Amino acid sequence: MERVEELLKAPVTIIDDPNGKKLDSFRNNIEFRKCASPTKDVTILENINLVVGKGRTIALVGSSGAGKSTLADLVPRFHDVTSGELLIDGVISRTIPSAPSGTDEHRNTRTHPL
Ligand SMILES: Nc1ncnc2c1ncn2[C@@H]1O[C@H](COP(=O)(O)OP(=O)(O)OP(=O)(O)O)[C@@H](O)[C@H]1O
Ligand SMILES: [Mg+2]
Repeated sequence: MERVEELLKAPVTIIDDPNGKKLDSFRNNIEFRKCASPTKDVTILENINLVVGKGRTIALVGSSGAGKSTLADLVPRFHDVTSGELLIDGVISRTIPSAPSGTDEHRNTRTHPL
């Protein structure tokens, strides 16, 4: 129970750009450009360069703990890169709201965890 409370009270580390605009469509590709680890303490990802075209299927292959989930989690902004950029149709992902903005559900989830 203490662990659950700890998680619920954990600070939100994803900061949304107040001037960011949501993407209304996805047309071309997702690009990882020199992306590095999402944590400052440990290097999980380093200098990741990858372009994934819309509609393409790719496989991330590596041993357990290699960083596959960490890499995939950058796309929905479960965490952000510490250097480099993730671009979606050329738009820097850090400028795209991390969840549908302007909804009560979004606001409650992120700033008033239970
Ligand atoms: N927020 C975090 N802070 C510190 N270390 C983390 C964090 N998230 C993941 N890690 C560590 O990063 C490494 C990569 O984890 P990740 O879950 O991305 O691996 P994976 O390739 O998806 O593994 P699996 O095949 O088991 O799913 C692991 O050593 C993990 O313990
Ligand atoms: Mg995984």
